Amino acid sequence: MTALPPPIDHATRYRQHLQACGYAPKPASAWDARATQPGWKRRHDDYSDAFLARLDLDGVDSVLDVGCGPGLLSLPIAARVRQVHALDYSRGMLDGLRAAIARAGVGNIQPWQLSWEDDWSAVPRCDVAIASRSLMVPDLAQALAKLDAHARRRACITFATGPRTGAGELAALLRRTWAPMPDHRYPVNLLLDMGRLPRVDYLPVPAPAADKDVADLLQQAEAMFGELTATERQSLCDWHAASPDNRLGPAPTCRWAFIWWETAG
Ligand SMILES: C[S@@+](CC[C@H](N)C(=O)[O-])C[C@H]1O[C@@H](n2cnc3c(N)ncnc32)[C@H](O)[C@@H]1O
Repeated sequence: MTALPPPIDHATRYRQHLQACGYAPKPASAWDARATQPGWKRRHDDYSDAFLARLDLDGVDSVLDVGCGPGLLSLPIAARVRQVHALDYSRGMLDGLRAAIARAGVGNIQPWQLSWEDDWSAVPRCDVAIASRSLMVPDLAQALAKLDAHARRRACITFATGPRTGAGELAALLRRTWAPMPDHRYPVNLLLDMGRLPRVDYLPVPAPAADKDVADLLQQAEAMFGELTATERQSLCDWHAASPDNRLGPAPTCRWAFIWWETAG
């Protein structure tokens, strides 16, 4: 018999993984402009349908939506419960949420401009707390503990299962060093470490919308890898022209894991 290996410190491993990816936390201002991008809701309808189909709101009175954005989920949830508390650190996102609230004439969503790291003691605990696509934070263990502590019954998150299809191929083509960001195995393990029993489901992968023209592909590559050199731009243009398959570029988003657990009450 050999000795058991030492236990894995998932919180530290997550931080090391982020470091290896060259991750830097985004300021709230980086999200401000995104709220006003046209078609945000239309582009994300399949995602929200898949999320809401899995969210159990039976007998639920109140929901906390952390990293709510312009309210893709807060609004439909508000139609099914008495009160929603919608929290985001981006003023632009909350302006988008307020506009959506006014358009829909909804009276039961309370916006809070706060970050994962701020003091949430003024925000009431809710029956259910959710964090949809909003957990790329420097301290994941702390964020999960915070979400858990603010939920009387259940908490629910979505977390990427891996990079978008095609992202690795693009990195290889451009000869960029690239490490995929941490995936859903981290929150699953951290929740087990917290004594919770996470249940995992997987949302369908969104189909690529249509052929991308080369300008779209260049823009997508710059969003992923930063500014491209003239040589890199040329090799991307050649690649785009080489096959109809390449015209789709990387998937518009990744596959999301839907993870929920019962909290301590
Ligand atoms: C991809 S959007 C998701 C919005 C919405 N939950 C959804 O699924 O459509 C991520 C949101 O998380 C918010 N966010 C990111 N980091 C945050 C942080 N540290 N504290 C609070 N909100 C944050 C952003 O402002 C943005 O609105």
